[in-house]
Order: sequence, then structure tokens, then C-alpha cells
Amino acid sequence: MSVPSASALHPRVLPDFDLVLFGGTGDLAMRKLLPALFNRHRHGEMAAGARVIGVARGALTRDEYTALAEASCRTRLGDEFDAEQWPGFAARLHYLRVDATARADYAALSALLGGRESVVRLFFLSTAPDLFTSICCELAHAGAVTPASRIVLEKPLGTDAASANKINETVASAFREHQIYRIDHYLGKETVQNLLALRFGNALFEPLWRRGQVSHVQITVAEQLGVGSRADFYDDTGALRDMVQNHLLQLLCILAMEPPASSAADAVRDEKLKVLRALRPIGDAEAVVNTVRGQYRAGVIGTTPVGGYLDEEGVAPDSATETFVALKAQIETWRWAGVPFYLRTGKRLPEQVAEIVITFEEVPHSIFDGTPSSQPPNRLVIRLQPDENITLRILAKSPGEAMRLKAVDLSLDFAESFKARRFDAYERLLGDAIQGNLTLFMRRDEVDAAWRWIDPIRAAWDADGDGPRPYTAGTWGPSAASALIARDGFSWHGEL
Ligand code: BG6
Repeated sequence: MSVPSASALHPRVLPDFDLVLFGGTGDLAMRKLLPALFNRHRHGEMAAGARVIGVARGALTRDEYTALAEASCRTRLGDEFDAEQWPGFAARLHYLRVDATARADYAALSALLGGRESVVRLFFLSTAPDLFTSICCELAHAGAVTPASRIVLEKPLGTDAASANKINETVASAFREHQIYRIDHYLGKETVQNLLALRFGNALFEPLWRRGQVSHVQITVAEQLGVGSRADFYDDTGALRDMVQNHLLQLLCILAMEPPASSAADAVRDEKLKVLRALRPIGDAEAVVNTVRGQYRAGVIGTTPVGGYLDEEGVAPDSATETFVALKAQIETWRWAGVPFYLRTGKRLPEQVAEIVITFEEVPHSIFDGTPSSQPPNRLVIRLQPDENITLRILAKSPGEAMRLKAVDLSLDFAESFKARRFDAYERLLGDAIQGNLTLFMRRDEVDAAWRWIDPIRAAWDADGDGPRPYTAGTWGPSAASALIARDGFSWHGEL
């Protein structure tokens, strides 16, 4: 009997598709989406007929668009840019000038898509959210939404629960829920999926994954970058809406959810939703104690001097937008009652790092010299970037006659252990959307629950009138962030 090979069971070549990229000349398309698509092409993972149609307001010819895409892919991919493969990818690229609000402009799009109704049709909305309504209405009006169509929505999905609901209502008027792919690119990161493998592929960790065994959890997403060219967007958004509402809460969900019955999309999303709904609300009084917001001032990152947030082009001189958030979250369930989850994110911090740190309880009684608290507890560090690894700190005997304990790390470095090709987050998520796999995308009720937890924090901040605390670029945020965790007897991982 012949056994099908692994690649036959999981064909790498994506089904034929037309991907319509609204915001096709924008930052996300140029920096992330087109390089990700080119990578899938150059690894032979695209069907012969697959097309990418950039759509934007600019008056570009197809050649000009292709040249723009090439320049961006070259910069982004560096040595990995494969010049030989480029012409093949360029042949898939099209460009259409469309004003998203002008009905007449959609006729050309319909014409280009015509005759390929049975092929997967993906509308990727990488535009300002206030265009989502027009785009959905006009696509529906133009008859461009086929049963094989899907819509991919890039964050931010609104600015609060009410606006997110409005967007979701509009999108629902043209697309059914199973056709809607709400992207959170953190879920596409390889290590996040490895967290699922670690938790539910091993019998070892799950019994320890709870109160009584876990002392506390930290989730840090630190960036050295400032707001760059996105000040317009960022100044109206801030770190709470830009990062915590989505990326950090999604990491929290994957980390804290109950074991789903299967890896099917709704099984996983049901469990994530329960975590969001079990978060203890942070209202006015709690916000003072359990949240810290900051805004960077001029400083030095590494050896490079950088300006302050208020000096960035496009930022209002009296802006009270936060570029840093630290907060303590609590999940009110039997599994997690009393276990603090500390979340922290910010721009212009000393390192570019994203990691989850789970610290376990101390031994109840030490049979060695010293007290239990003189021995560092076990700690699991799941590093998402810049490198991808999992490290478990255990105590071992230090060589020599005396019985001395020393902390050592058991490490799993993914790049070392698996030589296979690794997908970047957008390569994976675009592939999943084309293949119809919703597991790593957010459902409408999840987005809503996340906003409902975030909105009162935002409201409390608006009400207190204090504004964010300043911190020097190149430091780990305001000292109040260290105080927030120190109050409970802990300190941030990596911060001395
Ligand atoms: C985006 C935010 O969602 O994530 C950006 O809008 C942030 O402000 C980015 O810089 C971080 O993503 P990554 O993958 O570079 O950590």
C-alpha cells in the first residue's frame, strides 16, 4: 500500500486566487503584503493563474506599480530578493486606479475580475477604516462578491466597541461571517502557533498551567522604532488601541484559554472569547492603580540619538497620546483567579523584543541551603521575536563537592531545530485566507469583547486628565511601570 507523502497531504501550492489589495500603494502593502506574496511565489507556492490586483487612488500605470512593488520587495527582502523570480511575480501584478467612494470606478475592477467567478476572490482592505463601508457597499453593488469571495480586514477595527460594531455591521451586509477574515498578524507568528503546540501537544505543561503552579505571567512587546511616517494614524490611536486591544490580548487569549476540543476555527475562537469575557473590568478606580501610560521624550537608542514623540512630524505639539502602556490584567476563572498577567508595550524602548514569560511558584520547602525564595523559581520564556525560541529555567547542581544549586536554561531554538522554510506572519495568514482557514483570524464577538474591556480604560484615562507620563527614549518606560509590578513583589523580565 502506498503511503501519501506529507507534502501530498498538505499541498503547499495555494489554490488559484485573485487578491484585490485596497490600499495597494500603502505602507502595509509595500512593506509586508507584497514581499510576503512574492515569497510565496518564489517558493513555487502560487497557482499559475493567481493574480494580485493593487488598488489605490494614485494615477499609476501597471508598470509604475510593478516598479514600486519591486523597489519595496528589494529593500524589504535584502539578500533574499530573488531577481530571477521577479518577472514571474511581476506578471501576476495588476494595478487599478479606484477612488473607494466612487461607484463608477468599480466597473473596471468588475471587468478585470469577470470570468473568474469560481476562483477564490480575496478583498484585502488595508485602508483607513472609514472607507470600509463604501468599499463593501460598492463591491456588492458591482456584483463583485461571489460565493468564493472573502474579505480580509486589517486592524484597527474601529476605535471603540461602538465604531467596531458599525464596521462589522456594514461588512456583514455584503459578506457572511465565514467569509470575513479579521487579521491580527501576531497570530500568524510561528512562535504563537508553537505556543499552541507546546500547550496542547505535550502532556507535560497543561497540569501546571494554572493558579497554584503559575505565580504570574508577563507579556512584553517592545519596539525600538518610533511612530515613523504613521504619526497621523498613531496620534489618534495610541498604544492601547494600536497594540493592547489586539496583539497583546490575542497573545493573552492563546496563553490562558482552556484546551479547545479541536483546532477547528470556532473551537479555538470560542475558548479565546471566554478569556476576554472573563477579564476583570478596569474602571476609573482600578485604572489609577493597575495601568500606566507613557510618552517618549528625546533619548538614545543603542548609540543613536532620537527625538521625542512631540517632535515627530504630524504629531500635535500638545498631544496626550500614549506611546507606552503597562497594565495588570486578571482573569476571573477557576484556573486563573489571583494570577496576575502583566502586559507591557511601547515604542522607543531599549530593545526590539516580543516575549511571554511564565514564572512558576517557588518550591514549597527547600531541602538545600537557603530558603525557597533564595532559589529562583522555574520560568518559561517564549520568545516571539527577534529570535524564536522557548527557554525553560530549571535549577541544577553546580559541579563540585558542595551541593550548590544554579539556574540553567533548557532551550529550544526553532531556527536551529527546524531547518525547514519558515513563514513570516503575513505569508502564513494570506495563505490561510486563500485556503479558507479561519483559525488564526478573529471572530466578530472576540473583537467586540476586546473593545469592551479596553473602552473603560480609555475612558478612565480621558477622565483623569493627567496625561501620559514622560519617559526617555531608550529606557523601559516610566518608572511607574516598574512600580506597578514591584508592588506585587516581581520585576519585569530582562529589566534590571
Ligand atoms: C502593528 C502596529 O499592528 O504592529 C504597529 O500598528 C507596530 O504600530 C506593529 O509597530 C508591530 O508589529 P511587529 O510584527 O513588527 O512586532
